[in-house]
Amino acid sequence: MSFRIDVVTIFPEYLAPLRQSLLGKAIERGLVTVGVHDLRQWTDDVHRTVDDAPYGGGPGMVMKPEPWGRALDAVRPPGTRLVVPTPAGRPFTHAMAVEWASEPGLVFACGRYEGIDQRVADWAAGAGPVSEVSIGDYVLAGGESAVLVMTEAVTRLIPGVLGNRESAELDSHADGLLEGPSYTRPANWRGHEVPPVLLSGDHAAIARWRRAESLRRTAARRPDLLAALPEGSLTDAERAA
Ligand code: ADE
Repeated sequence: MSFRIDVVTIFPEYLAPLRQSLLGKAIERGLVTVGVHDLRQWTDDVHRTVDDAPYGGGPGMVMKPEPWGRALDAVRPPGTRLVVPTPAGRPFTHAMAVEWASEPGLVFACGRYEGIDQRVADWAAGAGPVSEVSIGDYVLAGGESAVLVMTEAVTRLIPGVLGNRESAELDSHADGLLEGPSYTRPANWRGHEVPPVLLSGDHAAIARWRRAESLRRTAARRPDLLAALPEGSLTDAERAA
């Protein structure tokens, strides 16, 4: 079964990169199916209006619920997760990507302006899971680039999409830690040496060194991740280091 991705947006051309690179190859190989839909086809006035002034006043425009209701009636298979990118969402994480990759597909609703009338997500929750998510603590002009980010994070976890399944399992975040540094030839480059243990052929020593580097880097760059590890993830020696 092919993993099905549908995106509803007022800027369908923005999603052209979905057909490039890793995801493009997965589409060619039939592992992933992508549909991009122009929200304006579900408007009902000559101006194809998708937004209106916010109730209660304030700046910006809010996306009207009616076109979204018709769009989701048309493109969302019952039970399929609806993902709504918004800076006001819960943080998107690798754990979410893993969960979503195990589902039959995803529908993304791209908001612009000040977002989509909240009743759309509230109503949609009656037909399946709805995830309002942010890809980081900054504000984008719309959800389209966030959809590119999330579809890439999810589809590379679908079996057969990556050439080598192992590479996803060793990635940063797969075990809750950041991945340590990587090196290739030459062993000495502009006076910088590759750590000698990597040339030793001692696989147990290499595994220990990689684990230590992963912990060191995570402590330096993402102490929040270390603090969030489940009980028993670190040995007493690692906790002390
Ligand atoms: N739309 C605007 N900003 C966003 C963000 N940080 N994450 C997801 N969607 C967004």
